[in-house]
Amino acid sequence: MSEEQKVKVKTRLPVPPPLIAERKPIHTERLIIRPMNEAYLDGIHVLRTQPEVMIYTVAGRIDADKEVTREFMSRFLPPYDSQSYGTMICLASTDEVIGTGGVRVIDPNSGWPEIGYTFKTEHWGKGYATEWMKGWLSNWWTLPRSEVEMEVDAGSVDGPGESPEKIWAVVEGGNIGSKRVLEKLGFRKFKQWTEPDNREGFPDKLTLVGYVLSHES
Ligand SMILES: CC(C)(COP(=O)(O)OP(=O)(O)OC[C@H]1O[C@@H](n2cnc3c(N)ncnc32)[C@H](O)[C@@H]1OP(=O)(O)O)[C@@H](O)C(=O)NCCC(=O)NCCS
Repeated sequence: MSEEQKVKVKTRLPVPPPLIAERKPIHTERLIIRPMNEAYLDGIHVLRTQPEVMIYTVAGRIDADKEVTREFMSRFLPPYDSQSYGTMICLASTDEVIGTGGVRVIDPNSGWPEIGYTFKTEHWGKGYATEWMKGWLSNWWTLPRSEVEMEVDAGSVDGPGESPEKIWAVVEGGNIGSKRVLEKLGFRKFKQWTEPDNREGFPDKLTLVGYVLSHES
């Protein structure tokens, strides 16, 4: 496990975020970033049955069936929309779902919100993750906020007390594409650690890298 030193900070977070019924799609040059919607279950199931994608997720394996995908989606749907901010990423030209992304938990008890994202393999390398993250972040930073006090990883801040709000990401050391996306968006690496890796066919140890992005304004 990561050796976590925690410090207490006073910051701001979008708690609670606007509920899903109040959210609007975000339009970027090539994408429509939609609030999670069960009507898109089939498209998300296709994404979540691609082994090359799922190996990099918390689950570490493909969804066994549509019920597992439905359970994944439910974490972003009512009543959990008061604690999460997840999106489906669709091509503006066809409305095909090509990815998912957002934060699963917005709760001061969990530290900084952790951003996660997945894209179908046939759409990798076209700049979509970068385009989504730019659009998603610009929306995220405009949500109404409340003051919160919380404990966060000491390396993610300058010290205890008042802190600009942050968002963080955890990436496998070998996931060059994901690290590159984060760095292009201004995230900085602040820690690296190893954990046992239980995935079949992988070395026993998994190297993880923590990145953080600060909202300075
Ligand atoms: C990681 C992931 C989201 C990237 O999506 P994407 O749409 O291909 O990303 P983008 O095209 O916006 O940017 C990828 C960048 O990484 C670079 N890159 C990708 N693989 C690379 C490699 N092996 N070596 C060097 N650079 C690489 C690309 O060149 C691009 O950088 P550039 O714009 O400077 O050229 C996608 O591969 C994915 O869904 N992977 C599986 C799930 C995952 O890893 N999620 C993140 C978990 S933290």
